[in-house]
Amino acid sequence: MTLPTLHDLHRPLGSTGLRVSPLGLGTVKLGRDQGVKYPNGFTIPDDDQARLLLSQARELGINLIDTAPAYGRSEERLGPLLRGQRDHWVIVSKVGEEFDNGLSHFDFSAAHTRLSIERSLKRLETEHIDLVLVHSDGNDLHILEHEEVYQTLEALKQEGKIAGFGFSGKTAAGGLKALERGDCAMVTYNLNEQAERPVIDYAADHGKAILVKKALASGHVCLSPGVDPVRASFELLFVHPGVSSAIVGTINPVHLAHNVAIVADVLSS
Ligand SMILES: NC(=O)c1ccc[n+]([C@@H]2O[C@H](COP(=O)([O-])OP(=O)(O)OC[C@H]3O[C@@H](n4cnc5c(N)ncnc54)[C@H](OP(=O)(O)O)[C@@H]3O)[C@@H](O)[C@H]2O)c1
Repeated sequence: MTLPTLHDLHRPLGSTGLRVSPLGLGTVKLGRDQGVKYPNGFTIPDDDQARLLLSQARELGINLIDTAPAYGRSEERLGPLLRGQRDHWVIVSKVGEEFDNGLSHFDFSAAHTRLSIERSLKRLETEHIDLVLVHSDGNDLHILEHEEVYQTLEALKQEGKIAGFGFSGKTAAGGLKALERGDCAMVTYNLNEQAERPVIDYAADHGKAILVKKALASGHVCLSPGVDPVRASFELLFVHPGVSSAIVGTINPVHLAHNVAIVADVLSS
């Protein structure tokens, strides 16, 4: 029996010119186990396990990977782990949030933005990052209207260091504002939380990209017995034409295969 894959289901990432799988791999759990809100404890995979997970994802047709400086060692592990396969992947990283000694802090200045991008390029062993999102602290409009980070990302795009930029926020107002100038918004959208839906509507109407974070409510989605929460979650997402891809953070190969099979089924039916 041939397992379903996502190879034939890649779609445009808004107007960036990039094509991405409808399911992306989130990598918080490759780099950090402190200050996370998952329902179950976990052990960060070692290099062999991480390499296997990445090659499984690739074989299943996933070409989109999401990381951030705030995900502990995620970026610095991905550099060597993805060595030799840069062209396969659409890499998304972030800027603005730092995570040191178990605590987050934020810096949205132009100087920090440039320093952070140079550091990400080095860690990821690449000459350009496909998409960089502002990692919001929740004060979305303040960041967009009064900080230097967004215009600095716009300049870095013109300089060719990044192919696209956008915003990973926490409010609909922030997502809408971010899409006026940016290429992509990363929004929370799942069976429990749909307040950012207007951002997805706007993106669909204006050719912008939407990446969904916490598609499975970080693993907290529970439904009536007999209803598969993974299927119900992906049905909710992909009925909307504005969703480019769902970034799901799993380190479990069985979950990864299940998620791919369900997304393939939902998009094919
Ligand atoms: N920009 C931001 O502010 C931001 C914030 C949060 C997340 N993100 C990005 O979005 C990604 C996803 O967010 P998230 O990790 O918070 O939430 P999520 O993708 O909704 O949920 C991930 C959790 O669900 C579990 N899971 C995945 N597939 C499953 C399945 N088939 N059955 C049962 N459990 C399953 C995973 O556990 P297993 O490992 O056991 O599968 C993991 O604990 C992150 O990795 C990150 O890249 C971005």
